[in-house]
Amino acid sequence: MRRPIVAGNWKMNTTRSEAEELVLAIRTLAAAAPTEVVICPPYVWLDLVSRALEGSNMKTGAQDVYWEESGPFTGQIAVTQLVGMCEYAIVGHSERRRLFGDTDEIVARKVVACMGAGLMPILAVGEDAEEHAAGRAEAVVRRQVATALAEVPPHPLVAAYEPVWAIGTGDAANREHAQWIATVIRDELRIAGFDPETVPVLYGGSVTPDNFPGFVAQPDIDGGLVGGASLDARKFATLVEQASTAAY
Ligand code: 13P
Repeated sequence: MRRPIVAGNWKMNTTRSEAEELVLAIRTLAAAAPTEVVICPPYVWLDLVSRALEGSNMKTGAQDVYWEESGPFTGQIAVTQLVGMCEYAIVGHSERRRLFGDTDEIVARKVVACMGAGLMPILAVGEDAEEHAAGRAEAVVRRQVATALAEVPPHPLVAAYEPVWAIGTGDAANREHAQWIATVIRDELRIAGFDPETVPVLYGGSVTPDNFPGFVAQPDIDGGLVGGASLDARKFATLVEQASTAAY
C-alpha cells in the first residue's frame, strides 16, 4: 500500500516571518497525521523551515533544482547544496516549464541529478488548456513522463499530475479525468521499467478541502501537490487529515 503524501508548494510566497509562522502553525496542526507531509518553501527559507520541523515527521522539499554540481551558474542551486537540508525536490513544475524554459530534456537532467544526490524527485507533469481542449492530455503526459525517465534506472520517485489549466484558477480537474491520467502515468512508469504500484501519484491544481476528498478517493491518486491552500495552515492541515482518512 502506498503511503499518502500531501506536499505544499509555497511558490514565491511568504516573507521570512510569515514562513516561520506558517511552518510552526502547520507543525502544530498536522503533526500526528500518518500522511507524509512535505513543505516546499522558497529556497531562502528552506533551512529555516527544515529547522522548524526538526523532531517532527514532516519533510521539506525544494521547488526546483539545477543539474550541474557547481560552477558559473548565477542564481542556480545544485542538488549537492540541498542534501542534508531537504529530502524532496519538485522537478518539471509547469511554471518552470512555461516561464523559465524547462524542456522535457531539461526536466530529465534534473531527475537524474536528484536521484544521484539521493533527493526524492516529485516529477510534475500535465497538459495545458489548449492541449486539454484538443484531447491531447494523454499524449502530452505520456511524452513528459517518458522523456523525464529516459535516462534513469528504476529509483524511488513521486509523480504529480498538475493540469496547467487547473493551477491557481479555482477550476480543479474533474476527478475522473485525474484518475484516468494517473493510470496513464502508471502505464508510462511501467514502460520506463519502474514498478508503478510503488510510485505515489499526486493530483495538483486548485486543490481545496472541498474537492480534495474526491481526488484521494480515486484508486490511483495518493495525495496532493498543493499551491494556494498550502499557505493557509488550517486548510493545509485539513488536506493532510483528508488524505489520512482516505488511506487508512
Ligand atoms: P494551486 O493549488 O494554487 O492551484 O497550485 C497548484 C500547484 O501548482 C502546486 O504545485
